[in-house]
Amino acid sequence: MNNKYVIANLKMNMDLNDTIQYLKIANKEINSKNVIICPTSIYIPYFLKQNYSVGVQNIYTCDKGAFTGEISPFQASSIGINYAIIGHSERRGYLKETDDFINQKIKAALKNNLKVILCVGETLEEKEMFRTEQVLKRQITYGLKDLTAEELKNVLIAYEPIWSISTSGTGKVPNNKDISDVSIYIKGLINSNFKYADTKILYGGSVNDKNISTLNEIKEIDGVLVGGASCDINKLLKIIEVVVDQ
Ligand code: PGA
Repeated sequence: MNNKYVIANLKMNMDLNDTIQYLKIANKEINSKNVIICPTSIYIPYFLKQNYSVGVQNIYTCDKGAFTGEISPFQASSIGINYAIIGHSERRGYLKETDDFINQKIKAALKNNLKVILCVGETLEEKEMFRTEQVLKRQITYGLKDLTAEELKNVLIAYEPIWSISTSGTGKVPNNKDISDVSIYIKGLINSNFKYADTKILYGGSVNDKNISTLNEIKEIDGVLVGGASCDINKLLKIIEVVVDQ
């Protein structure tokens, strides 16, 4: 077992018919608990029925109450959801989620036994100003504030440079050396801040069936987070075939 992960972030794509067709093909092929599918929340029960590892794309800070439209970590956990994506750049950007709010979400998820996929990454402007490490340091230091080494066993970090996300328009992916350097930086930072040396790092941003073999050569990452390409089940299966021992 190589223990690598493939996380499929379907975002707000696919209708019910697409979902049913997607599952028909996926059912025969996906056997690993390290393949985590994060559908639109209203379609999650279809995926749970098939025994996949399932994640929500967002979670709230409280278990219950008058919070119209939010997803409760307690309720998510109680129906068998295993993971929560937290701090995705689309939520940081469009919905103005702060590191402090993200930190509260992470604590609420962990308290309910949900594993966390924390997304971090810099904008193109920040990259061009050589501020990548500074940005990651802020997102990680405040995002994971007060967490224990024990809790960090249940946190995966997805490094997703915002400029590389397929819908951002640049269509670029960092080279393997840059991804490797960032991964080493993040692991070192978490080790020195939190005394936890075994953080799992994923890469995300324009991962597809064409570039996956090259990306999979990076020894310092523990898998990939796939957005757009994961909506095509055949592309996702190809990525899984390269990355995950099933
Ligand atoms: P992408 O999205 O694979 O379409 O670039 C990744 C993400 O936003 O998580």
